Amino acid sequence: MIKSKTKREIEIMKEGGKILAGVLDSVIKKVKPGITTGELNEYAEELIDRSGGTASFKNYDAPWAPHPYPAALCISVNDEVVHGIPSERILKDGDIVGLDCGLEYKGLFTDMARTVAVGKVSKEAYKLIDTTQDALMAGIEALAPGIKLSEISKIIQDKVEKAGFSAVKQLVGHGVGYKAHEDPQIPNYVGGSFPEVILKSGMCLAIEPMVNVGGWEIETLEDGWTIVTKDGSLSGHFEHTVAITDEGYEILTQ
Ligand code: MF3
Ligand code: CO
Repeated sequence: MIKSKTKREIEIMKEGGKILAGVLDSVIKKVKPGITTGELNEYAEELIDRSGGTASFKNYDAPWAPHPYPAALCISVNDEVVHGIPSERILKDGDIVGLDCGLEYKGLFTDMARTVAVGKVSKEAYKLIDTTQDALMAGIEALAPGIKLSEISKIIQDKVEKAGFSAVKQLVGHGVGYKAHEDPQIPNYVGGSFPEVILKSGMCLAIEPMVNVGGWEIETLEDGWTIVTKDGSLSGHFEHTVAITDEGYEILTQ
């Protein structure tokens, strides 16, 4: 069952989403060659501590992982798709870095991610970043009550494949609000065995294309969390939390 949020709940998620977007923006300003992913996470934790919210990824217990997630931010560099764990790793000129963060605010959850360049990156890396963001925004712009979720998945997949890239299949976007992850699952491609959902006003969704330069296949590293591309190609990730409204949609994480 997909429970719609009330107007009041969506207002609170919008407040939380605004805080979250501010945190991510501030963290992104610190992304430069020489900084470590651990330092970026510490900065995010400080900002979140002062924000009135809490970091929803920290200590998140996923059924598939051997231990709870240890940080506020997921930081995924180059061929890392998502769920990279902050560490002593030093970012260098030419890297791309995915930053993913979740916030619980007044009991409600929002979730967002962006991928950014460290210094100057390859043409292909810029194209990957732009394509992933464009795919997310094209999917979002089509949201409205009565639309099938698979239509959104198709728009995202088409954008990605037209650019010559691949949408990851094993990981999906999700409902969000009362918990960090709720139904429905939101694939970034069509053809899986995902239940169809007709969008309704009040649904809150975290849409998050994960896009690989090479093939769509992924693997999990020995740390139990970090997901990488199987072929070692670069990967990008963008995510927004959105609400379906009577008129169409509203982006909550901005
Ligand atoms: N945005 C990702 C997701 O929705 C990040 C989850 S990381 C975790 O799955 F730590 F919370 F698991
Ligand atoms: Co998410």
